[in-house]
Amino acid sequence: MIQAQTANSGIVGQAITYEKIPTQIYADAKDASSAVAKEIADLIRIKQKEGKPCILGLATGSSPKTVYAQLIKMHREEGLSFKNVISFNLDEYYPMQPDSIHSYVRFMREQLFDHVDIPQENYFIPDGTIPPALIADFAQRYDNKINAMGGIDFQLLGIGGNGHIGFNEPGSLINSRTRLMTLDHSTRAAAAMEFGGLHQVPKKAITMGVASIINAKRVVLLAWGERKAPMIKAAVEGPVTELVPASYLQAHPNVAFFVDERAANDLTRVKTPWLVDTVEWDNSMIKKAVTHLSFTLQKPILKLTTKDYNDNGMSDMLAAHGSAYDININVFNQLQHTITGWPGGKPNADDTHRPERALPAKKRVIIFSPHPDDDIISMGGTFQRLVDQGHEVHVAYQTSGNIAVADDEAFRFIDFVVDYNQKFGIESQAAMKIFNDAKAFLKQKKDSEIDSSEVRYVKGLIRRGEAKATCRFVGTDHFHFLDMPFYETGTIQKKGISEADVKIIANLIEEVKPHQIYAAGDFADPHGTHKVCWDAIEAALKQLKHKNFMKDCWVWLYRGAWAEWDIHEIEMAVPMSPDQVVKKRYGIFKHQSQKDGVVFQGEDSREFWQRAEERNSGTALLYDQLGLAEYEAMEAFVRWHF
Ligand code: F6R
Repeated sequence: MIQAQTANSGIVGQAITYEKIPTQIYADAKDASSAVAKEIADLIRIKQKEGKPCILGLATGSSPKTVYAQLIKMHREEGLSFKNVISFNLDEYYPMQPDSIHSYVRFMREQLFDHVDIPQENYFIPDGTIPPALIADFAQRYDNKINAMGGIDFQLLGIGGNGHIGFNEPGSLINSRTRLMTLDHSTRAAAAMEFGGLHQVPKKAITMGVASIINAKRVVLLAWGERKAPMIKAAVEGPVTELVPASYLQAHPNVAFFVDERAANDLTRVKTPWLVDTVEWDNSMIKKAVTHLSFTLQKPILKLTTKDYNDNGMSDMLAAHGSAYDININVFNQLQHTITGWPGGKPNADDTHRPERALPAKKRVIIFSPHPDDDIISMGGTFQRLVDQGHEVHVAYQTSGNIAVADDEAFRFIDFVVDYNQKFGIESQAAMKIFNDAKAFLKQKKDSEIDSSEVRYVKGLIRRGEAKATCRFVGTDHFHFLDMPFYETGTIQKKGISEADVKIIANLIEEVKPHQIYAAGDFADPHGTHKVCWDAIEAALKQLKHKNFMKDCWVWLYRGAWAEWDIHEIEMAVPMSPDQVVKKRYGIFKHQSQKDGVVFQGEDSREFWQRAEERNSGTALLYDQLGLAEYEAMEAFVRWHF
């Protein structure tokens, strides 16, 4: 953990801070959540000893789930009791029935309340069923109830991609109280995934106000993943403004943000630590600083001067590591050496400065693809090169991806089978039954109801067919459909990984004995699926690491559709020509069920091929701006070590 700095700008020997909110950065959400859960548990116990209730303000959303999981564990293993807890939730969609799968009542029961001993009469959640005319009165009573309890002792918060806290959207006033709010488009878009489409997301919510939140005695805000980084920076370092409601927390005397490294990425002490304190100028820090300087000054690396370094807080780097000229050349060469058109290694070539080994010239490769299209979207150009360069390329599709297929698409395929059977005189009562059942089911299906097992299976088959089409298009027939069990819930909410998931991965690795593994290292996937898929691979690799073949196995991580590695992290960059970019686009087009408005669009309205192209050309542009060769597009990888 990197400790939060205190505000002591300019004092000799102390770090300068740009942070106006104490911020604790942890390696991952799990570590941070354990610390937060411990703080909550300690408070509950202190209040118990004093014979007092512990008043908690609770949040929903993806961020607090790991905290709740940890609290449940403490309840089970350490006997932490919630009998003296009284809780007030921040918000609820409006209108919303409490038993809906989307309600925050249901969320809280599933994520926490049903697993601990909190009495049912002790938790309060804004009522999404109240008639419009009574909302103002309800809201007033909600605030009064909190005040009557003596106020909130500990308020847990997440932060929206637009800086909201609770559902206090940008524009909310610092003195706002519990009320009905109209949700921002970006908030609804972020929830569209859960609701199965933007049109199904409620337009309003009842939320505690900013004042209700700020009155809490202690406030802790959680943020995980790079998606949150810009708003964490704005709230922690920027001015207090109604445009970023979380920035109001700067005024709170006892607030802390608990964030993971990715969410902290834009903070000055992480992005440009040399502007905050003395840093150790190791190779990675030098690379980070030089590339940053080059982008900031919009100058290629080889043109950076001593003055540029001195003017930007890097004179100690020059003092310790030689002249600007030497540093420029050194970093330039390192970046140059990451570029290769031979992702499987270049045979008969000196590989001293290449990202991959020359030998064996023909490698066995497994590309792990969490969903059935991540292989082509995230590394389609590299996949193609590996096949073209004669390696034995296996693709392992980790999950069926069945929840992301629209109902009418499934029905079209079932209908096709019936027509096909009729045309060719194939008697199949079973196909007819599936057709009739599916028709009946889909006709009466309520919004976001879980599909019947047949419909789910058909949806999985559609995605399987698309993945096979991509493999054929690229030129491999080594495809493996792993259908990892954790995914098969039929809802966005997945199970945790089990031994069975890990075994499936380990068995495949053992069977193929790969020299290279490619996996999605995209840990901030909003669905969470990529992270679970990686956890299973990591667990399998750890199980297998003593096997002989593993000594020759290198693991490369690509990033999913959301973000690219930072330029100084990249260890292999595979360039693509304009033709290769177009070929990759056609490979992505094979995933027809994911085109023209996908089920889980999220906040980004671009189609997957557009996101991939913009990201890959963006990476190429960064290399170009640094003064390296100008390519049409590039795919980037980082090597993973045990
Ligand atoms: C939830 C809430 C929201 C969320 C925020 C972040 O009760 O009030 O402010 O905390 O939208 O959501 P996640 O954690 O899903 O990214």
